Amino acid sequence: MFYSRSKIVSRIEKEVTMPKYQDIADTVVHLIDIGHYREGSKLPTHRALAEEYATTPVTIAKAYSLLADQGHIESFVGRGSFVKKRSSLRQAIQPQLLEDEWNFSILQPCLAYHLETLNNQISQCFSNTVSPSLFGYTEHTGSLLHKNAGMRWLQHFGLHVRSAEHVLLTNGAQHALSLLIELYSQPGDVIAVEALTYPGILSIINALGRKAVGVTQDEQGMCPEHLQEVCKQSHPSLVIIVPSHQNPTTVTLSIERREAIASVIQKYQTWLIEDDIYAFLNSEKIPPITNLIPEKSFYISSLSKAISPGMRCGYLKAPQSQIEHLSTLIRTMIWLVSPITFEIATQMINSEKAFELSNQQKSIAEQRQAIAQTILEKDTFSAQVSSFHIWLALPDNINTDQFVATAKERGMLISNGRYFCHDESYSQYVRLSLMSIPTHQHFEKGLIRLKQLLDQNRT
Ligand SMILES: Cc1ncc(COP(=O)(O)O)c(C=O)c1O
Repeated sequence: MFYSRSKIVSRIEKEVTMPKYQDIADTVVHLIDIGHYREGSKLPTHRALAEEYATTPVTIAKAYSLLADQGHIESFVGRGSFVKKRSSLRQAIQPQLLEDEWNFSILQPCLAYHLETLNNQISQCFSNTVSPSLFGYTEHTGSLLHKNAGMRWLQHFGLHVRSAEHVLLTNGAQHALSLLIELYSQPGDVIAVEALTYPGILSIINALGRKAVGVTQDEQGMCPEHLQEVCKQSHPSLVIIVPSHQNPTTVTLSIERREAIASVIQKYQTWLIEDDIYAFLNSEKIPPITNLIPEKSFYISSLSKAISPGMRCGYLKAPQSQIEHLSTLIRTMIWLVSPITFEIATQMINSEKAFELSNQQKSIAEQRQAIAQTILEKDTFSAQVSSFHIWLALPDNINTDQFVATAKERGMLISNGRYFCHDESYSQYVRLSLMSIPTHQHFEKGLIRLKQLLDQNRT
């Protein structure tokens, strides 16, 4: 058994500072987290739960009403209360609530190592009088200076960009993905994705009422033959690929695979979105697929993984013919990205600091991968030497949902493989981010603890 119910109930009994209904609501959330109450399942009646917690049905009604307000459950007159379906993005990437938890679920740079540099950059950037243009609306969706820096960033990773006018500024890669999905597909359309992919892509597809179709992957990434089949049968409006250090499988597509995928896109005249946010982790520059089909492909990068997700700086290179379309949508949705953060990004790119920081993060990832190799059995996970994460196979006798819930109870937040499957089917894998824990020592301790949990659950 993975959790102690009596422990949870006694926690309620001891808690005196919170109103009882609020405490019961917290406990129900915890029970949903650990899979005791599953998504879509019916919750106990007010009377049954009141008996269990030695309280009144009115208190339970208040707890359920709070849970409904918080979006955890839905109540229907005459039918009862049900656990709501949760956002897969929120499930896979969990917020850290307690200081001593190990958060293996967030794929972000190890910020502790470059906070000082970031602070210095910001002070330097604004030490002189700041140009009034940074505080006002601009006519375009971003300044040419900021787009020029974006062009430099993209070119550094091997992308062919002829003019800064072909670069659009977005609030991170997620914003670029949602703009493209919104503009280049209609509700009900099929979008081809890697069968295992970043839940943020799946969330947008679901939220906008599109349908994700998974393309088979092997140890070298997306299979072009299956992509061809999907294009032939399902006519996807878009194909979305993460070609470097793929999230979650960690695979980087070879040049041959890139060429084969480009041919399929060309043949079926669909659009490609190449989300290359992890390109800075590649050991050598590999030409993006977009270089082969520049008129049919959108290339996305951002500073989120290499420098800071909080800056929300994304760069989108689009075919010339599509720039006006996209700029109009950006202007309609948000007017423009914040010139202030893009000014910081621009100065960091122009001074080369951005590249220094991204190299530093790559070497931290290498150190973390080396630590992981010493603790976990190598043949149980896939990763490259500089990936930010690993894709870990659980032994067959372990149930992933229960394992993730137990790990959470013991202070380790990990991502359930289910949320990376295009259809959210069961997965025998978990994704571990190696980078969001600040120090190597704490990281190592957490990983040892996780290994112990794995060993305890082995037959
Ligand atoms: C493949 C991929 N694309 C996009 C994002 C989101 O990036 P951003 O923070 O720039 O929106 C992530 C974050 O995990 C990701 O893994």
